[in-house]
Amino acid sequence: KVYTDYFFDEPAFNTHDGGYIPLVRPDVAENKLNVPEILEPDKETDTDMYYTVVAQEGETQFLPGKKTKTWGYNANYLGKSIVFKNGKHIHVTLKNELPELTTFHWHGLNVPGPITDGGCHAPVYPGESSEIEFTCDQPAATLWLHAHPCPSTAEHVWKGLATGVIVKDDVEAKLPLPRNYGVDDIPVILQDRNFHENNQLDYLADYDPDGVQGPTALINGTVNPYFDVTTQQVRLRLLDGANRREWRLHFSDDLEFTQVASDGGILPSPVHFTHLMLTCAERAEIIVDFGKYKPGDEVTLYTDDVAIMTFKIHEFAHHDLKLPEHLVDIPDPEITPDTPVHQVAMSGMDEMVEMNGKKFDMQRIDDRQKLGNVEVWSIINTNDKDSGMLHPYHMHGTQFRVISRNGHAPYPNEMGLKDTVSVNPGEVVKLKVWFTHLGVFMNHCHIIEHEDGGMMAQFEVFDPDQPKQYKLMDMDTL
Ligand code: C2O
Ligand code: CU
Ligand code: CU
Repeated sequence: KVYTDYFFDEPAFNTHDGGYIPLVRPDVAENKLNVPEILEPDKETDTDMYYTVVAQEGETQFLPGKKTKTWGYNANYLGKSIVFKNGKHIHVTLKNELPELTTFHWHGLNVPGPITDGGCHAPVYPGESSEIEFTCDQPAATLWLHAHPCPSTAEHVWKGLATGVIVKDDVEAKLPLPRNYGVDDIPVILQDRNFHENNQLDYLADYDPDGVQGPTALINGTVNPYFDVTTQQVRLRLLDGANRREWRLHFSDDLEFTQVASDGGILPSPVHFTHLMLTCAERAEIIVDFGKYKPGDEVTLYTDDVAIMTFKIHEFAHHDLKLPEHLVDIPDPEITPDTPVHQVAMSGMDEMVEMNGKKFDMQRIDDRQKLGNVEVWSIINTNDKDSGMLHPYHMHGTQFRVISRNGHAPYPNEMGLKDTVSVNPGEVVKLKVWFTHLGVFMNHCHIIEHEDGGMMAQFEVFDPDQPKQYKLMDMDTL
């Protein structure tokens, strides 16, 4: 079966927003797609890996003329790709060379909260650094690192503080998937920006409480990119790294492609599409087969009806990829009996956004779940069906399973592990959630201005046998 429709509710697509800013293909020459370098470890032993991640200022040549002032991780904009191997003990030095405090949040990484997780309770002050360590304990996946200083997450990400994190493991390594990084396995970080005078970004000038947008698509920080296809199949690790924009992706000729992974890793079975929609922070790994094209051909990737990237076909060796119908086993633990259903309501738009009728408070713990329990979280988007918006709901500290959407089966590409799930207006999405680390974690809408605007809460994962006290920051101590 090939899915040819976006699954989400059309009246809630961002194209209907009052403040929607359509993408415009910039009138500049094509640029070779930037494929971020891989961050080299400082040191490595059989069991341990040591890295330094530096948040730094820089300048980036996005457009002809003046360079743009940007921020990045070990790079001028976005960052180097960080590769972790499941089972390794990882040490990271987090260095802040920016003129203001930031945090380093590992979106989707299974680590303790709130410090290692890097949400708003883990500031690194300008000129300072801090150390974290953890054991990588999760299946192969495409995750990401982004800044998370509340309430300036959106501005930090807008300036460039986001980068891909790739987890590898022995299970994925045995699957017949492309994995030659930079050649047939590439990160595709989808963003949009507005360039002002002298090609500069101006977050405040573009501010919109429903999410900042710009008319220019940036892919891995490249304007108007092309990618040279030198293998029959290419694996794209798609990440919606935009503050607000949804991506409704499809190729020229309605070329079919296959999704093999979602946020938390490989799917139980491949899912075939001609059209795929991603909302903020979601990831999808897709395999595109260019077998029917010949050297000199071009294949275009679109979002809605705007071309955002060109694939230039070169000579390649033909060999057909036979994906097994079953890729991996997905954990599906039993719900712990007699546990309450956690209720989360995402409400409002603009400045009125709230979670469970409240604005985020760094000092308030809104919910608790016992370590090791498997519990149901029921997420409702109370926005109006005709005029409301999709809210991508994200939880730190877990990869969950989607149980149902309004009582129906989840979408076919939601059968694997997820950490972000978009909820249609008027919809109730039920999740099966479990944790393997203690801590205080955040849950929020991943339209980043909604998160900063208060559509965020926090919960504690606790163990009655080892009670913990957390030092929670508040706006004044920051
Ligand atoms: Cu992508 Cu709270 O984060
Ligand atoms: Cu996160
Ligand atoms: Cu939202």
